[in-house]
Amino acid sequence: MSVHSSANIKRITTHILQEMKDRGEKISMLTAYDYSMAKIVDAAGVDIILVGDSASNVMAGHETTLPITLDQMIYHASAVVRAVKRSFIVVDIPFGNYQGNSSEALRSAIRIMKESGAHAVKVEGGAEIKESVIRILSAGVPVMGHLGLTPQSIYKFGTYTVRAKEEAEANKLIEDAKILEACGCFAIVLEKIPAELATKVAKALSIPVIGIGAGGGVDGQVLVMHDMLGITQEFKPRFLRQYADLQGMMMEAFQNYIKDVKSKDFPNESESY
Ligand code: KIV
Repeated sequence: MSVHSSANIKRITTHILQEMKDRGEKISMLTAYDYSMAKIVDAAGVDIILVGDSASNVMAGHETTLPITLDQMIYHASAVVRAVKRSFIVVDIPFGNYQGNSSEALRSAIRIMKESGAHAVKVEGGAEIKESVIRILSAGVPVMGHLGLTPQSIYKFGTYTVRAKEEAEANKLIEDAKILEACGCFAIVLEKIPAELATKVAKALSIPVIGIGAGGGVDGQVLVMHDMLGITQEFKPRFLRQYADLQGMMMEAFQNYIKDVKSKDFPNESESY
């Protein structure tokens, strides 16, 4: 028996996400970057799959999200699209491919949609990228905003600590959220900001507000898959709930395999032709 009313929906759309906010059903969102993992995430019933530029960290081993390219994001997104039947797929436009001018932003969004088959794009920032957001939306591409601790601006922030604790930054964040909604964004992500502020934004906006490190008063939650599965053990912020210890399980499996190969236990007769 399904535990939530969107469980039987064949394909999640922006319209369905809006209905979920309207009736108070929380939205689940997780990152995925490849075919095999996306297939499991989709089959589990996650509402939104984010092909995040966190691929730069967890897939490519970079320190920040800045180095990943548009071609690399399209490669990851295409693999995810091939796996997914139900989830709504959002793809990050990487750093440097939308901030400069709105024509480039539109070109990047169109490449993602055309070449990967994804359903929407995500961009970081508020008033500063308004023209780009409007231009992308004018081509019929759904846009998800992202405010708070926006990782593409990490060198401006200088630290990964909680954002918008001061009144001026909190007020700007509320303004930016309203601008993104007025532009026509279908949802926004709020990352690592005080729960009280995030709740205020979720109440002020009619579009879904998805949080990561933004408390429980928003309309849904997103986590990076590798962090919640315990594949990345070195990253353990307070907001992260770890649902498995895959690093431990995988280490044990790999070590057992090595032992079996070295001891000539593998392959045995029934595993041979
Ligand atoms: O790239 C990403 O994984 C993200 C999430 C942290 C929201 O943007």
